[in-house]
Amino acid sequence: MKTRITELFEIEHPIIQGGMHFVGLAELASAVSNAGGLGIITGLTQGTPEKLAIEIARCREMTDKPFGVNMTFLPAVRPPDYPGLFEVIVDSGIKVVETAGNNPSQWLPMLKEADIKVIHKCTSVRHALKAQKIGCDAVSVDGFECGGHPGEDDVPNFILLPRAAEELEIPFVSSGGMADARSLVASLAMGAEGMNMGTRFIATREAPVHDNVKQALVKATELDTRLIMRGLRNTERVLTNVGVERLIEKEKALGADLKFEDILPEVAGIYPRVMQEGDVEAGAWSCGMVAGLIHDVPTVRELIDRIISEAEEIINRRLVGIQSA
Ligand SMILES: Cc1cc2nc3c(=O)[nH]c(=O)nc-3n(C[C@H](O)[C@H](O)[C@H](O)COP(=O)(O)O)c2cc1C
Repeated sequence: MKTRITELFEIEHPIIQGGMHFVGLAELASAVSNAGGLGIITGLTQGTPEKLAIEIARCREMTDKPFGVNMTFLPAVRPPDYPGLFEVIVDSGIKVVETAGNNPSQWLPMLKEADIKVIHKCTSVRHALKAQKIGCDAVSVDGFECGGHPGEDDVPNFILLPRAAEELEIPFVSSGGMADARSLVASLAMGAEGMNMGTRFIATREAPVHDNVKQALVKATELDTRLIMRGLRNTERVLTNVGVERLIEKEKALGADLKFEDILPEVAGIYPRVMQEGDVEAGAWSCGMVAGLIHDVPTVRELIDRIISEAEEIINRRLVGIQSA
């Protein structure tokens, strides 16, 4: 398949692995890039410029294909060293950056100067238009189904993607709820030029996370995610578990009085416990409704090859067949 996204990022298949805290390490990013997609290392998981430089070097040892770095801007008590992290990205010759969480305009001049392509992830048409206006090369349009932060508008991809296609000039990929060939073909039909997957890539052999996490995704259905932190205007879609249900009880009890500190035990420091130690009940970790479409733990290459070959089958047989019937 050839789209503006494959051309822009110089990749074989229009499939991107979104940044994921404690999941987007060199093992997964390189596996996705080696299979012809675009793998992405999650910058903030490394935390410091020194560690990010090591992770990029590690990834480069595992693939000679292009891969990117995700930089997420979130409110933080002690903000990470963003200038240092961006400097490492530029110095290490990275050619793609995925930004998310807030307007990346402050960093665009230095990225453009280094000929780095920027894909900004956003959850609304107005933010996508803003990204286009400030000079982003592409956007990742993240629908209400997505794992992680879906924003506060609650517009699912069956509406959001065609709306993005109506308004945008720069290319965009679908994100949120994407799992297989059907997702890819539907995304292309709605005007996207590729798709971004998060949750689906966690349930792969190469994802460097505890097997309990992968099995939890295989077991989960589309009914097993919850939205948390809505009252704080920091909505996150997570897999339900004991910690999350406790958090939701606190939200109900405290209502408008809820403060971030009230739910710290359920949200702070959870990722290493879940992803590395396999304590999947520890608290809140992002997960999309797409868990309901995850039934196996293939290698990344098996997953991507399957998506591409089944997409060709859908386009060339099913759709053409319907048309000529
Ligand atoms: C466990 C997990 C961690 C994530 N961490 C981040 C992150 O640190 N930064 C970010 O921009 N997006 C993050 N995301 C969002 C993904 O990049 C992607 O946009 C989202 O998963 C797409 O929805 P899907 O899960 O339905 O595929 C995370 C998603 C998951 C499932």
